[in-house]
Amino acid sequence: MITRRDYLRLSSAAGVALAIDPALLMADDSRHALITRAIPGTSEQLPVVGLGSSASFSRMAGEGDAAAVGKILKTFVQQGGTVFDTAPSYGEAERLAGKVAQKAGIDNQLFWATKLNVASGGSADPIAARAQLEQSFDRLGRSPLDLIQVHNLSDVPIQLGLLKEYRDDRRVRYIGVTTTFAGQYGDLERIMRAEPLDFIGIDYAIDNRTMEKRIFPLAQERGIAVLVYQPFGRTRLWQRVEGHALPDWAAEYDIASWAQFFLKFAISHPAVTVVTPASRRVRHVVDNMGAARGRLPDEAVRDRMIRHIESL
Ligand SMILES: NC(=O)c1ccc[n+]([C@@H]2O[C@H](COP(=O)([O-])OP(=O)(O)OC[C@H]3O[C@@H](n4cnc5c(N)ncnc54)[C@H](OP(=O)(O)O)[C@@H]3O)[C@@H](O)[C@H]2O)c1
Repeated sequence: MITRRDYLRLSSAAGVALAIDPALLMADDSRHALITRAIPGTSEQLPVVGLGSSASFSRMAGEGDAAAVGKILKTFVQQGGTVFDTAPSYGEAERLAGKVAQKAGIDNQLFWATKLNVASGGSADPIAARAQLEQSFDRLGRSPLDLIQVHNLSDVPIQLGLLKEYRDDRRVRYIGVTTTFAGQYGDLERIMRAEPLDFIGIDYAIDNRTMEKRIFPLAQERGIAVLVYQPFGRTRLWQRVEGHALPDWAAEYDIASWAQFFLKFAISHPAVTVVTPASRRVRHVVDNMGAARGRLPDEAVRDRMIRHIESL
């Protein structure tokens, strides 16, 4: 038996993931239950840390490395994760994740969140949109799918209209829209007020907090679940903390790494339902899932975390 903390320390020293069944790492965390949040308006609980699949993950999938994708997905599920965020536009990510999860028999343990976007030049052809949706059902081998969102607010009238129809027909359980562009936040607000959304997907990180002002309170008011994207700002926060040790007081919140520091910051906002960091490394997936356990910072500690990052 090895503790999660030792595993991360040893893996990090070796520069590779240790060949240890990640399920064994649960033992030292048994005193900490997995933190879950309800999808607003339902009794359905989701673990607060999920898995994203653009950039690093899609690179691994693009290399056709089914074994590596399998290790990541199995580790994620063994660590208690369920929410997997993908999109038809993330290279091979959606296709390979679906195939690998079905082969490993874990597809029904995942909450599949994919996207819709066929809008080129601003408008979406409904026939092409239906074809893309059918392709996602086919690739992921599931119907209904758990969540489909309009990617980057592209042609919302046509594409969200179609998703509403699919939800009415019970081919998808939840629908939503996503953006990670500040220039679209005004449109996002208008759509959140006007449309019957179950979810939004939006960027949020300790150094990127504009959405706390209007979008998060609106999500709470309207009962919309929030998926957080880019909790590390992709590479931005890694550059910021490079060469800096975690502050000692982080341990009081069961934070053992910078990843857990950033993820616990995002998770501890009351509007946030699930944070979906992406990784192609087993040890990072284990590390990230560690943020779904233990104590969470309160408002005062969140302020302290911000001040600490701003001081680096
Ligand atoms: N509009 C949209 O719908 C939209 C837009 C952007 C993102 N998203 C979703 O949000 C997900 C997350 O965003 P993102 O992938 O852009 O960025 P991110 O999760 O903020 O950052 C990913 C980067 O962090 C590294 N990393 C992950 N865990 C780590 C750990 N424990 N320790 C050290 N480094 C770690 C990864 O490298 P390694 O691979 O080496 O671990 C990768 O370079 C996406 O994958 C996607 O599913 C959606």
